[in-house]
Amino acid sequence: MSPAARNPDSQPVALITGASNGMGRSTALRFMEAGWKILALDLVKGAPEDPNCHLLQVDITDEQALATGLASVPEPFRGLNAIINAAGIYPVSNLDTLTVDLYRRIFDINVLGTLLVVKHAKDRLADHGAIVNFSSIDAFIAVDNQVLYSASKAAVSNATKTMAMELSPRGIRVNGVAPGWVRTAQNIANGRMERFLPSVPLRRAAEPEEIAELVYWLTTGEGSRYITGETIVTSGGLYMR
Ligand SMILES: NC(=O)c1ccc[n+]([C@@H]2O[C@H](COP(=O)([O-])OP(=O)(O)OC[C@H]3O[C@@H](n4cnc5c(N)ncnc54)[C@H](O)[C@@H]3O)[C@@H](O)[C@H]2O)c1
Repeated sequence: MSPAARNPDSQPVALITGASNGMGRSTALRFMEAGWKILALDLVKGAPEDPNCHLLQVDITDEQALATGLASVPEPFRGLNAIINAAGIYPVSNLDTLTVDLYRRIFDINVLGTLLVVKHAKDRLADHGAIVNFSSIDAFIAVDNQVLYSASKAAVSNATKTMAMELSPRGIRVNGVAPGWVRTAQNIANGRMERFLPSVPLRRAAEPEEIAELVYWLTTGEGSRYITGETIVTSGGLYMR
């Protein structure tokens, strides 16, 4: 049963990080289409401008700012039915180019940011709610020039399992999605993706909306209610587990 079905008189609310761009934004639009309210957390503007979407401009790696910001959220967006951690960065790195600063930036945003958001929002999440973390196919395979990013997403997938254990007494399911190539504005702009698409068994990149649909399916529990601690790879067959 979806949160919407459990609370017919109130719209369910999803906190979505990274909701101003890419897949986070597509996910926000998918949930709004289904009648959800969105508490968008992002560094920048760009989240859907709509009365059902409230943007909290905050750096998710700044624990104090995150706690203060969440405390100031207006009432209709305070109680949560879902938390979606989509904010993330993927600069290239290898053993020659990695620096301590780059390590800290990638791990702070991708790993620490995800953990801090759950830490500070979990008590507002309804029992039997859901959390979905954005991992990546790179968490499971070796990719040139992604030594830091791959390790950070492996950490996200593992933390997803631990969070699932910790929150299971409340009936909260915690899962991850691990996309392969996605036709996001950044991937289109940097031109890297086209070169790799012939090696994808389905011969195309995913549309951001397809990833949003998977996140929605994992969140509502309709057909996914017995899945927790799992990271679902969605890569057109590029990686088969
Ligand atoms: N694009 C891909 O092909 C791809 C593939 C696999 C996984 N992923 C993962 O999916 C997620 C979304 O990727 P995307 O390409 O749609 O992202 P994107 O770059 O289009 O958007 C990311 C958003 O996160 C926000 N953000 C970054 N750092 C932040 C911080 N410290 N605090 C708050 N907000 C912050 C940015 O402002 C931006 O709006 C990421 O976690 C990414 O690692 C992407």
